[in-house]
Amino acid sequence: MYRIARREDLTPEIHLFEIEAPQVARKARAGQFVVIRIDERGERIPLTVADWDRDRGTVSVVFMEVGKTTRKLATLKAGETIANFAGPLGTPTEIENFGTVVCVAGGFATAIVVPVAIALKEAGNKVISIMGFRTKDLVFWEDRLGSVSDEFIVTTDDGTYGRAGVVTTPLTEVLERQGNIDRVVAIGPTVMMKFCAAATVPFGVPTIVSLNPIMVDGTGMCGVCRVTVDGATKFTCVDGPDFDGHKVDWAELMSRQRTYLEEEKLSLEKWRRDAASG
Ligand SMILES: Cc1cc2nc3c(=O)[nH]c(=O)nc-3n(C[C@H](O)[C@H](O)[C@H](O)COP(=O)(O)OP(=O)(O)OC[C@H]3O[C@@H](n4cnc5c(N)ncnc54)[C@H](O)[C@@H]3O)c2cc1C
Ligand code: FES
Repeated sequence: MYRIARREDLTPEIHLFEIEAPQVARKARAGQFVVIRIDERGERIPLTVADWDRDRGTVSVVFMEVGKTTRKLATLKAGETIANFAGPLGTPTEIENFGTVVCVAGGFATAIVVPVAIALKEAGNKVISIMGFRTKDLVFWEDRLGSVSDEFIVTTDDGTYGRAGVVTTPLTEVLERQGNIDRVVAIGPTVMMKFCAAATVPFGVPTIVSLNPIMVDGTGMCGVCRVTVDGATKFTCVDGPDFDGHKVDWAELMSRQRTYLEEEKLSLEKWRRDAASG
């Protein structure tokens, strides 16, 4: 069993759990993920490592409540345990001194971008960060991402904080203004990553995205997480989750993400009914 050492509510629907998992903490690197299961009857879900403390033997994950499992997870308190916490899984994000890198974060994925931005900065890159949220109340870790960035831009879709609009506008402006952007790392909702990748095509800037298809085992066995990249089938859990955003078949990914929409809805409704009836 894996104990929740600390819980922090970053926004009403985005939570941080610091979990005691020394084996994972020892090896975790930016861009990798864990597969968790709340209890022995629960489904397995992947969550990216947001932070780790090798001395304390803890790993932090940040998750957004979207369906049954993430809502059930959000009911747990510090001191309680989860049954499984397997990882680190996946290929770490490629980190080297590229030159100038733009990190784009969307919503909950800010937590995933922070360790990547820290590692890029430590490798000697100039880091320009753009983080986008739907509205002011959902903004978190502005200080963490801001403190490792040479330039930092916040956007909200509704204009309640920072610049009004979506992240692709400042991204395009940075690319137009500075001719020397060497790489873009964009992590967030699939649609955001798709449009970030489209925005960088005219500038020929390599663009890395972190894909989040449906996953089951997370170890390359089931094939559920398959995506098409540059015409070839890849398993996100072992070949990724980072891929070249210019080569991802976005239409196929989005269609596959919707495969179990009806089942996911029914599962959430049943869990809510069961929870209400005690
Ligand atoms: C490699 C990898 C890493 C991931 N890392 C994280 C992470 O660090 N933090 C995190 O919060 N999530 C992360 N995810 C997504 C997370 O695994 C899903 O949110 C989770 O499996 C949903 O389970 P559920 O039962 O709560 O919802 P489901 O019942 O599976 O889904 C409910 C509904 O929410 C939609 N949905 C799923 N994910 C999202 C999303 N991100 N935004 C909006 N709608 C969504 C689904 O399409 C569906 O309609 C990651 C996914 C992958 C593949
Ligand atoms: S999740 Fe099963 S192969 Fe990737």
